[in-house]
Amino acid sequence: MKKIKIKKGILSILPLFCLLFNGGCNINVNLNVNNTPRLKWWQKTIAYEIYVKSFKDSDGDGIGDLNGITSELDHLKDMGVGAIWLTPCYVSPQADNGYDIADYYNIDPAYGTMEDMDRLIDEAGKRDIRIVMDLVFNHTSDQNEWFLKSRSSKDNDKSDWYIWADPKEDGSAPTNWRSIFGGSAWEYDENRGQYYLHTFLPQQPDLNWANPEVREELCNIAKFWIDKGVGGFRMDAITYIKKPAVFKDGTPDAEDGLAGIHSITANTDGILDYLHEFRSSVQDGNDIFTVGEANGVTSEDLDKWVGKNGVFDMVFSFELVNIDLPDENNWCVTRDWDLKKFKSFFSENLLSADSADGWFPVFLENHDQPRSINHFMPDDGERIAKAKALSVLLLTMRGTPFIMQGEELGFENVDWSSITDYNDISTKNHYEFLLGEGYSEEEAMAGIRRFSRDSSRTPMQWDDSENAGFTTGTPWLPVYPDYKEFNCAVERKDPDSVLNCYIELSKLRREHSELTEGDYKDILPDDENIFAFTRTKDDSKAIILINFTSNEVSYDGGLTEGATCIFSTTPKEQRGHLAPYGAVIYEM
Ligand code: GLC
Repeated sequence: MKKIKIKKGILSILPLFCLLFNGGCNINVNLNVNNTPRLKWWQKTIAYEIYVKSFKDSDGDGIGDLNGITSELDHLKDMGVGAIWLTPCYVSPQADNGYDIADYYNIDPAYGTMEDMDRLIDEAGKRDIRIVMDLVFNHTSDQNEWFLKSRSSKDNDKSDWYIWADPKEDGSAPTNWRSIFGGSAWEYDENRGQYYLHTFLPQQPDLNWANPEVREELCNIAKFWIDKGVGGFRMDAITYIKKPAVFKDGTPDAEDGLAGIHSITANTDGILDYLHEFRSSVQDGNDIFTVGEANGVTSEDLDKWVGKNGVFDMVFSFELVNIDLPDENNWCVTRDWDLKKFKSFFSENLLSADSADGWFPVFLENHDQPRSINHFMPDDGERIAKAKALSVLLLTMRGTPFIMQGEELGFENVDWSSITDYNDISTKNHYEFLLGEGYSEEEAMAGIRRFSRDSSRTPMQWDDSENAGFTTGTPWLPVYPDYKEFNCAVERKDPDSVLNCYIELSKLRREHSELTEGDYKDILPDDENIFAFTRTKDDSKAIILINFTSNEVSYDGGLTEGATCIFSTTPKEQRGHLAPYGAVIYEM
């Protein structure tokens, strides 16, 4: 952004001036005394994702709940967290662990009551933490009363709230689209004699955003939660809301003869009109932020999604987490990648968000992804060193970092041997898909262990008591057996733990403003072992160097000449060298 020199006293009358002389006065008045743009609260903070079902159980039923979260807010406060993204805790039959919502205005009894939610918002607020709700607006549950009504006949007031289509002449599904969780994306309904579309499970029918009544109701839901005092929204699966004008078969991409729906319906022309409408109706004038789950949006289209002409404050791009997966979403076919490609994701996406005056959410994990140390690091032990190296990346990159619960303790992927050990429906379906494609059980299980969503969903490990202090009952998903060593209580006491690394880095971010506000530059884009970048603000510059390999590596010591080391993951930092998985931060 271009800097403009304005005297401090003028700032207060600037908006009036602009209003009176609205002739080319196109300046951002959100300036601080140094005349640089003032960051909003959600740009300066750290966000944390809570998988509600797995965080902390307060009533012994084996399922995490809202009161459990309230009881552990200080853990988050210590890490400097200012926003908690809660996975959906609304009333739901839980076919997809809450991403199938039956009632957007109430809390699922397994998670607590609306009073518990009010208390959570309140207690979090006392610690300067705001709650971010997950808005699942592409689809509802098939148990939502809107859908029950919609499927009851072809002429009721909700009949057009979902995507209904007639069978092909032979009675088969209207198109050959494969849902993201496997199998046809269409489900036949006897009553209507028609099929309905589901991008995900059959229990998750897609809403018809082309219907203005649907859009209005979705805005009302968001406003209801804003009135409750939440600080923002994560917009689930948002790139699928607009369907193509004509439904036609796609080119089959697997043995099942189906064509993956993602390449057909994601980010369809016209989607942004709906989202601009949502933004102006819901967000304008409210001090909240939105972050869209935007699978299918690339760095090239980012300027239409975020920033001054955008529809959200941030979007989660998927190019990084999909770096090793081909488009067809087959967990047995991985794609080669290297650190140069990994680094280019940040340069492309972050800088493209920046140039649109937008903002970037930094994430290496979420509840749909493998654990980052397994995903992005070589498979050779050194778990703690790898987790610390990635924590440096996450907490010093430009943008708002999103920590996935357990990431701050160094959690790794589950290593279960049989498909019956897994819970996630998409994992089970994908296993069947892989067998159908001709893979052996062993091959299929290797893919499952690598990508299953259960890895990021095992219960949080609080201490070394039974069930890691997550519940006094039987946990809904087994606690990972490493909990005696990797848990909050033990890690809190160990100065060299992954948790203390997160706490220290978050303090550093607060103390060195270039780490939150500074510009980003990749300074060794061609280096195959080291991720090195600077964060520069006015006269302060931080230089961050991270070794992504298990070997000691060298770099040109001149890069850090005259700079002071302010952080190192290894006890003896040596200029010009990085220890295996070592990460250091220098400041000039
Ligand atoms: C999003 C969620 C995922 C869910 C899917 C369907 O991708 O992150 O967990 O299964 O949408 O709602």
